[in-house]
Amino acid sequence: LQQLLLKKPNEPPMVFHWLPVIGSTITYGMDPFAFFFANHKKYGNVFTFILLGRKMTVCLDTTGNNFILNGKIKDVNAEEIYSPLCTPVFGKDVVYDCPNSKLMEQKKFVKFGLTQEALRSYVTLITHECEDFFKRHKTFKGQQGTFDVPKVMAELTIYTASRSLQGEEIRNSFDSKFAELYHDLDMGFSPINFMLSWAPLPHNRARDNARETMIKLYSEIVRKRRSGVAKKDSHDMIWHLMDCKYKDGVPVPEHEIAGIMIALLMAGQHSSSSTSAWILLRLAQNPHIVEELLAEQKSALGHHLPPVSYEDLQKLPLHAQVVKETLRLHAPIHSIMRKVKQPLVVDGTNYVVPPSHTLMSSPGFSAQLDNHFVNPAHWDPHRWDAGQNNYDEERDEADEEKIDYGWGVVSKGTKSPYLPFGAGRHRCIGEQFAYLQLQTIVVAFVREFKIRNVGGSKDIIGTDYSSLFSRPLAPAVVEWERRQKEL
Ligand code: HEM
Repeated sequence: LQQLLLKKPNEPPMVFHWLPVIGSTITYGMDPFAFFFANHKKYGNVFTFILLGRKMTVCLDTTGNNFILNGKIKDVNAEEIYSPLCTPVFGKDVVYDCPNSKLMEQKKFVKFGLTQEALRSYVTLITHECEDFFKRHKTFKGQQGTFDVPKVMAELTIYTASRSLQGEEIRNSFDSKFAELYHDLDMGFSPINFMLSWAPLPHNRARDNARETMIKLYSEIVRKRRSGVAKKDSHDMIWHLMDCKYKDGVPVPEHEIAGIMIALLMAGQHSSSSTSAWILLRLAQNPHIVEELLAEQKSALGHHLPPVSYEDLQKLPLHAQVVKETLRLHAPIHSIMRKVKQPLVVDGTNYVVPPSHTLMSSPGFSAQLDNHFVNPAHWDPHRWDAGQNNYDEERDEADEEKIDYGWGVVSKGTKSPYLPFGAGRHRCIGEQFAYLQLQTIVVAFVREFKIRNVGGSKDIIGTDYSSLFSRPLAPAVVEWERRQKEL
């Protein structure tokens, strides 16, 4: 009764809770999707809950996705939410520690750096890294065995990203200090830091030291390259950023190049390593798809399986659909948040959300609704085969009015329930790279191995929501067997 009385009549319904500050923190934190489904059933698409003392208003389904992700800059704000967590990790003057217009320019630099030529070179580098990894990694000694998928894929993802996007010097420093620095910096993303990122706790001190050391490392690389010691013989993002200038003609300073590279490393690593792990776990649950993937490669590229190129990836639709379907059920970013800047009427309702609230969107939720997807809980890459009645962002947005954010032209609104890369001004610019990286890893993996769940079971592991990005619960062990090479 007290909760009902405290709520203003036109505010969204409040999820019932017993404890004032804790509110729904525990049920949401344990399984956000189960929480969204339960409350969607009770309250519909729009409701408010308490997360560590903050009022979070969730707006679900396609209208909710569009309302939040395409919200105007005067209405909703990302940096006020993300900056306390991200700035101590990425450093000053980049991403959320600068005006949104500067972030848009930084996103443009990165997007424009992912040229066809660069992407082409990345496929070759990632393939080499995978082949090397499958030969030398202790997990893959011999002809068959088992492996802990999330752990091994986290390693392979960071090696492949650093060899391609981050460049040779970063990849080479991995064997020594970089892995440790990465680990310390990553501790900055502990969920506790949503409240305590400023606190002089040991993990925050380690984070700050790691950030300073990494900024120095990247700055040294830039200086060495500028002095002519290193030749420009690759297409990594550092080379590209060194040539970029802001609209006012100022080149990107060293510490900002470092900050952007750290942001790319972190954004890419969490999302892609979780996705690559889910892909392999889904393939282990469905070994017949692994054989279909190999058959697709043989029929599209030749029975002898030549080295794969960037152009070849376009000829492997089932490989892309495996990535697409995995992202439908296992979106690594389950909740996207924005601060409300002025009272807002929620689209399609009479509810008014006051500026004291934070908005929460979950495109991963609409991707699991049965009004959009037949048998939504079922993982089936063939649901994306041509002619199937499934939603497709590109198809759905084809007729929409467009808007140019400087880094790319996107739809002004979105009707799609499938938005694993977000929408609007904060939409991901790493999608192309992520697809390229994940598809290339899958190509290399199915050429080398068969996999299946231990004992051939059809189970799938649960999701770990304890960090900011969701990922498979570890350990998640599956069986591998090396393929016999045909002579
Ligand atoms: C933004 C998902 C890979 C860099 C986003 C957003 C989502 C997302 C949902 C929007 C966040 C928001 O609106 O608050 C993913 C997924 C990935 C992936 C599912 C892989 C499977 C990458 C990679 C990079 C990257 C590989 C870097 C190379 C970024 C950047 C932003 C972003 C810079 C913009 C943040 C902003 O404007 O506020 N990503 N991402 N992402 N992502 Fe990704």
